[in-house]
Amino acid sequence: MTTAVLITGASSGIGRAAARRLVGTPGLTVYATARRTEAIADLAGTGARILALDVTDEESMRAAVEAVEAECGAVGGLVNNAGYGEYGTIEEASLAQVRRQFETNVFGLARMTQLVLPGMRAAGRGRIVNIGSMGGRLVFPVGGYYHASKYAVEALTDALRFEVAPFGVKVSLVEPGLIRTGFGDTAARTLTGSADPSGPYAALNAAVDQQIADSYRSPLLSAPPEAVAKVIERALTSSRPRARYVVTPAAKILIHTRRLLGARVFDAYLRMQFRGADRTAQHAVH
Ligand SMILES: NC(=O)c1ccc[n+]([C@@H]2O[C@H](COP(=O)([O-])OP(=O)(O)OC[C@H]3O[C@@H](n4cnc5c(N)ncnc54)[C@H](OP(=O)(O)O)[C@@H]3O)[C@@H](O)[C@H]2O)c1
Repeated sequence: MTTAVLITGASSGIGRAAARRLVGTPGLTVYATARRTEAIADLAGTGARILALDVTDEESMRAAVEAVEAECGAVGGLVNNAGYGEYGTIEEASLAQVRRQFETNVFGLARMTQLVLPGMRAAGRGRIVNIGSMGGRLVFPVGGYYHASKYAVEALTDALRFEVAPFGVKVSLVEPGLIRTGFGDTAARTLTGSADPSGPYAALNAAVDQQIADSYRSPLLSAPPEAVAKVIERALTSSRPRARYVVTPAAKILIHTRRLLGARVFDAYLRMQFRGADRTAQHAVH
């Protein structure tokens, strides 16, 4: 018997790497999904099945789950991966854009979960792997709205893990650190969209933009998406999957450091990093 695994957001980055890895995992039938199926057409050649799926569209979500259920009986594994970072300061970011991000990162994940659960409960088994983030455990400035979406994923995952365990459904949260995918470019693009270049946060926005670019270039701080794909496979196939998997050594260190330092000292550490931006803000009159 094979287990049908549905992956959201398989057009690039972590979702694509997961699809490529899981097609080689014995016992799994992989459903790679994306808003634009042409972006995943090549995955069909690797053995994956291809479906259209936009996690902000109810009909699209229903149709994808029904297609898997028609072929395999139930979705055996759901990888809630689709997501992106809407960057900008709390004051400047467009709340319309922030709502869209929550539709994808939080409500899309929640709705996909609701749609697959009846089938999993009927089968008496299932796995749900949510892609959270190191950013669900600590917060960097100018990323507040993205972090808020990933903190929400932490809470949903903790509640869900408890609620569905009696039905044989196991839930894991994967918390990647910096992963070299399209994520950094999308974050930079959304930041450019929200930032007022002559506004009070101009220097901070520029410093964060620079830091994002530098961090994703660093092989010490970042990892390729295949590192996350490996952990997703573990969460789907291990007999006792963990509640949380932090991916990248740098992410493990940062999460521990944040916990040890507390909010005040962590703020002081961030102030040191963005010292120049702070000084400029003090001198700006707006
Ligand atoms: N890269 C990192 O540093 C990092 C760190 C921690 C967590 N994560 C998380 O990892 C997940 C994957 O991101 P990534 O790093 O692989 O970035 P990515 O390369 O930009 O991939 C994001 C994926 O999400 C898809 N997506 C966006 N909106 C969607 C929607 N409405 N419906 C369906 N798919 C949608 C994108 O599809 P389109 O091609 O159609 O836009 C794309 O396939 C996200 O949840 C992200 O928050 C990433």
